[in-house]
Amino acid sequence: MITSNPFSALTALISPEVMQGYIILMAIFVFLGTVLDMMHKKSAKYFFEYAKKAKQNAKRSVGSGEKVGIAVATVANEVLTSGEFCNVKRRLSHLLTMYGCVIFIVTSAMMIFGANTASGTLPMLWHLGALMLCLGGYWFWFFIRVDVAAEGTKWYHLVKADIFIVSLFTTATFALIWSYLQSKGGAVGDMSGTTLFFVLFIISNTTLFASVFWSKFAHMFFKPAAAFQKRVAKADGSNLNLPADFDLTDPAVQAKFPDIPEYMGKNPAYMGPGIRRESPNHY
Ligand code: HEM
Repeated sequence: MITSNPFSALTALISPEVMQGYIILMAIFVFLGTVLDMMHKKSAKYFFEYAKKAKQNAKRSVGSGEKVGIAVATVANEVLTSGEFCNVKRRLSHLLTMYGCVIFIVTSAMMIFGANTASGTLPMLWHLGALMLCLGGYWFWFFIRVDVAAEGTKWYHLVKADIFIVSLFTTATFALIWSYLQSKGGAVGDMSGTTLFFVLFIISNTTLFASVFWSKFAHMFFKPAAAFQKRVAKADGSNLNLPADFDLTDPAVQAKFPDIPEYMGKNPAYMGPGIRRESPNHY
């Protein structure tokens, strides 16, 4: 099963042109959803206004050479290795989900548009991508989500914000089941589980791509820009327009904020890591 192309057998019922048209339609959905999302949330406007304000607070200017270096560091760290996640489990689950999704989408498009191979490496990668997506997705869904892990909300409690993650793992799950049943002799079009799981796969997949405006899908385009901006803000000293990190024992800081020595004494104790002291599970 793992090395056979499930789209090959499907051509008996659905022509390659129709499959290609479907992929183009999904790409259009992603483009429109992202643009509408940007217009609705005014995120581009906010981003540029924010960057302008940060420039005013900058302590030094960052040259274009340095910006290229920052862009390379952002791609290597935040984009390719999910470096923003402090929690190792969350980072691993995100890496599995992200790479699984990319491999699954790219190999689907390659198999439908070009390589008309009945079996081989591409189908193997397609199955592997779907498996990685399931692993990362279910791990996140059952064990990592904040409201499940920290607030004790039940795993089946669904809200609109879950469209992205749920449509991701259902797409991958139904795709795998459809491929398995087909490899066992089932065919799409029969009154059988193969047809049922193929239909469920298409419904989940269409939901994933058609819901960009309402889901978290577009974060994969916005997050890299935000991470780059964050690094530039660190380099130019504007510090994301936030106050500096103060040393409470510094006399200059105490002179600036006299309530520190008044309430905490001349030598305030180190208050510890605060919110990060222990994992949040007090529900
Ligand atoms: C195919 C690409 C990607 C997939 C499938 C993906 C998947 C996900 C999923 C499922 C979540 C959890 C969302 C939830 O709370 O429901 C998430 C969160 C997150 N992702 Fe991604 N991601 C992708 C690309 C990226 C990229 C390129 C970046 C950064 C440069 C990124 C940064 C983040 C961050 C920081 C969060 C946590 C914050 C949040 O929940 O909004 N992701 N991602």
